[in-house]
Amino acid sequence: MNRYAIVLAAGKGSRMKSLRDDISKVSYPILKVPLVDYVLRSLKPLGLSRVITVLGFGGETSEKIVEGKAEVVWQREQKGTGHAIMQASPLLGGLEGSTIICCGDTPLLTTQTLDDLLKKHEDSHNDLTILTGILDDPRGYGRIIENGGGRVVAIREQKDCSEEENGIRKINAGVYVFDNRLLFECLPLLKPGNKAKEYYLTDLVGIFNEKGYRVGAMVCEDFDETLGVNDRVQLAAAAKIIRGRINRALMLSGVSIEDPENTYIGPDVEIGPDTVIAPGTHIYGHTKIGCGNHIGPSTYLENTAIGNDNVIEFCHITDSEVFNHTTLGPYFRARKGVKVRDGAHIGNFNEMKNVDFGEGSKCAHLSYLGDSDIGKNVNVGCGTIVANYDGVNKFHSKVDDNAFIGSGTILISPVHMGKGSLSAAGSTITKDIEEDSMGIARGRQENKPGYAITYHRKALDKKGR
Ligand code: UD1
Ligand code: CA
Repeated sequence: MNRYAIVLAAGKGSRMKSLRDDISKVSYPILKVPLVDYVLRSLKPLGLSRVITVLGFGGETSEKIVEGKAEVVWQREQKGTGHAIMQASPLLGGLEGSTIICCGDTPLLTTQTLDDLLKKHEDSHNDLTILTGILDDPRGYGRIIENGGGRVVAIREQKDCSEEENGIRKINAGVYVFDNRLLFECLPLLKPGNKAKEYYLTDLVGIFNEKGYRVGAMVCEDFDETLGVNDRVQLAAAAKIIRGRINRALMLSGVSIEDPENTYIGPDVEIGPDTVIAPGTHIYGHTKIGCGNHIGPSTYLENTAIGNDNVIEFCHITDSEVFNHTTLGPYFRARKGVKVRDGAHIGNFNEMKNVDFGEGSKCAHLSYLGDSDIGKNVNVGCGTIVANYDGVNKFHSKVDDNAFIGSGTILISPVHMGKGSLSAAGSTITKDIEEDSMGIARGRQENKPGYAITYHRKALDKKGR
């Protein structure tokens, strides 16, 4: 049987209380991944023939997020969840199959639960199957109204509930599987006859019952999964649960996380066994980390590849690559395009951008290197600057194996230091230095005997002592 999905993502999210009109609620991120992306990820393994997202408010931002992952239909005016589904009618109307509908603001749903719901729907030959949850605090959710026989007869939004109905703890998780043909046949029957004057998708429950179509439900045992993100308190709550899931899976696969409550790892990050992550560490994007590393405390990694057996403390490394057996930090920043090769050491307060830093080379303190190739076993002295930018153009420098850059050297790019060459401390190097040669470029020192006494006396006179 054909399976389709529709993800509702057009709503403004008024309860987020944002002043911006360019971002929809479903584009708010958790661990740098937008809410709606979590829903699309859970749907992906289900073998769906089409996945359609309904976009509207802030839709340009949402469109970029779902690009390549789902088709898009537009709901220009947000007149409710039922009205949102109507917009998919030109694509799905009349087709045979099952359609799973999810809200883009429920990022905790798992593939397992969605698959169970689809199976339950198909095995029970239902026309509509609703995912429900039982919550201690059902506030804000639509309540499941059942008849004496436990059949779902309606879903009532909180705004429209009587006092008695308000006490119902069984809620609508906002996930449904419909017989696709009946869904689009019945949508035109919806009326905005509620307090919000919206076309509620949930009113189809009543309509299906009236028509004698089969309506069933499945309780989601893990009530975390049904959490909808409507405000920023729920956003933080959902983030905490997602973090917990990711950290737990990593720990069970052999990664030590010293303080999971205080470690932030995105869903696409891969980490090998025997790597230890110390507190305050953030790892995002497509970062891939090997085995036996010690990372953190307080380290930020994004879209970076890390090999094995590195020690990386208090570092900020993005869009870069670290090979094996290096020691980095504290306070090393690699902005982008940095390759730190095997056995290198980069110590405190160094910044690099677009640098290939060779095997066994050292840069112990306080340097900025931009756009350069540093060979093997090079020593970069304290306070070295590779001045790569003249305000208009960027230039590239090259330092060959075994070179020694004296402290306080400024290499004005483009410049080349040959193999085994040396720059004298405090030099501003503007010309290439040949292999095994020394470059020295600084004013000659002159000493004036006794002048210090004259100087100090003048200073005291000025202060009137
Ligand atoms: C909805 C359900 C409620 C359920 C809850 C579960 C309805 C009427 N209510 O309530 O029963 O308990 O989800 O989380 O369906 N959206 C659109 N277009 C619109 C309005 C909303 O695309 O015109 C999208 C939103 O972007 C959101 C989703 O639909 O992703 C749900 O909308 P929201 O306003 O959050 O509904 P709830 O009040 O949470
Ligand atoms: Ca919601």
